[in-house]
Amino acid sequence: MTVPETTDAIDWAALREVAIEAMKKSYSPYSKFPVGAAALVDDGRVVSGCNVENASYGIGLCAECTLVSALTMSGGGKLVAFTCVDGDGAALMPCGRCRQLLYEHSAPEMLLDTVSGIKTIDEVIPDAFGPRTLLAYQDEH
Ligand code: THU
Repeated sequence: MTVPETTDAIDWAALREVAIEAMKKSYSPYSKFPVGAAALVDDGRVVSGCNVENASYGIGLCAECTLVSALTMSGGGKLVAFTCVDGDGAALMPCGRCRQLLYEHSAPEMLLDTVSGIKTIDEVIPDAFGPRTLLAYQDEH
């Protein structure tokens, strides 16, 4: 998928299809709540992930975790656009932990397809703690 010049040209329908395909691979026997996620990377790659649960409930992986693993394993880069779907293919908000995960790997102004429309990463995790917080502190000490 090419990274468009302007973010209003992002092919959200195509990205949603990738998320739906990922959702179909979900391993979620405990919650029975499959999730799929897909994102456009700043070099045009598309990465995806699904939730992978565990009998030890608390260590289950959200779809965003496996997406970020896929991002790292396929060469890294920054996320430009992201979508997440439930078992019906409807938009799903990333949980709080996953907003933090996405923030770490976000391009400036990264966009998310949310339950209340397209939003920037800064809107879904305002005043975020992140890499710049640590750098600013280290610069002063
Ligand atoms: N889940 C995700 O994969 N991503 C989210 O952002 C919200 C929750 C998964 C975790 C668990 O496998 C299932 O949804 C039910 O909570």
